[in-house]
Amino acid sequence: MINKNDIFELGIGTWKIDYENIKNDMQSLIHSYNLGQNYLSLSMLYNNGEVVRQLKRFINKVDRDKLFIATNLEPTIECRDDIEKQLNEYLQILDIEYVDMLQLHKPSFSKIPLIDVYKEIQRLVNLGKVKYIGISNASLEQLSLINKEIKIDFFEGIYNLECKIYEDIKVLDYCDKNDIKFLCYQPLRRNRTAKRNYPLLVELASKYDKTQNQIILNWIINEKKMIALVKSTNINRINENKQALDFKMDIEDYERLNNFRSEEFDNVKVDWDDNGGISIDQLANQFE
Ligand SMILES: NC(=O)c1ccc[n+]([C@@H]2O[C@H](COP(=O)([O-])OP(=O)(O)OC[C@H]3O[C@@H](n4cnc5c(N)ncnc54)[C@H](OP(=O)(O)O)[C@@H]3O)[C@@H](O)[C@H]2O)c1
Repeated sequence: MINKNDIFELGIGTWKIDYENIKNDMQSLIHSYNLGQNYLSLSMLYNNGEVVRQLKRFINKVDRDKLFIATNLEPTIECRDDIEKQLNEYLQILDIEYVDMLQLHKPSFSKIPLIDVYKEIQRLVNLGKVKYIGISNASLEQLSLINKEIKIDFFEGIYNLECKIYEDIKVLDYCDKNDIKFLCYQPLRRNRTAKRNYPLLVELASKYDKTQNQIILNWIINEKKMIALVKSTNINRINENKQALDFKMDIEDYERLNNFRSEEFDNVKVDWDDNGGISIDQLANQFE
């Protein structure tokens, strides 16, 4: 089993894994694992569970106890029993005894009170079927409400150069103070940030002789101390991302990245209640 503090800084994202031709992506997955990437993010929402079913083959090829398998609870949780049912599906499909982390993918996915969801997850931890507890896409209020009763270990949320909402609403501070690890998804905004050629990124990429994406990942991991979940099934880009960890930037340059703001993203109003507006998990996809 992998301890919370032994997770490699770059996680393996699985959105858009080529589940129909998993053999093509298998080599890349194994390559990531061999580089030390030991966090695997799974969701039954991706292609109706087909990605999870195909990833069983990957899990069979590596040492299961050296892989941190993170799983998501998906819509819709109508009653407490649905939680164990969803967990059992992951365990059965993957033929494993426990998952390393279970999180609610999004608060609105549950029709029962959040606190009841988390009491149930705690029960599953006590049974040994789950090792750590996480939550994704929550607001500060939702996170703190749960964490007062059930200790949360991980928070998975959007964070990148342009979308700093979780910093603004003080979730990052809360995680720091409460020993909650922040897992950042879409750190590269699916390569769209680099494509914009922001002068700051262009300048730093040239100064350190790195790519813009390496500058972003280096800053998120070294300066913001987050675990970055990146999906790549391209061997060159997997190496590029790993090599993003191998250098340090000047303090002033980290500060400039810390202070960078995107007016476009800052002006988006997030619909935290999922009432038809822009939900937090859609924020990163608002602009090319
Ligand atoms: N909790 C949530 O609600 C939530 C939401 C979104 C994502 N996630 C998780 O977080 C993971 C990461 O997010 P994401 O996949 O949406 O976005 P991402 O990791 O920012 O970007 C992935 C895309 O960028 C490309 N890429 C990767 N490294 C690159 C590089 N160095 N240069 C250029 N392109 C690069 C990949 O293509 P190639 O494969 O061709 O390299 C892929 O198309 C997901 O896979 C998923 O597991 C969770």
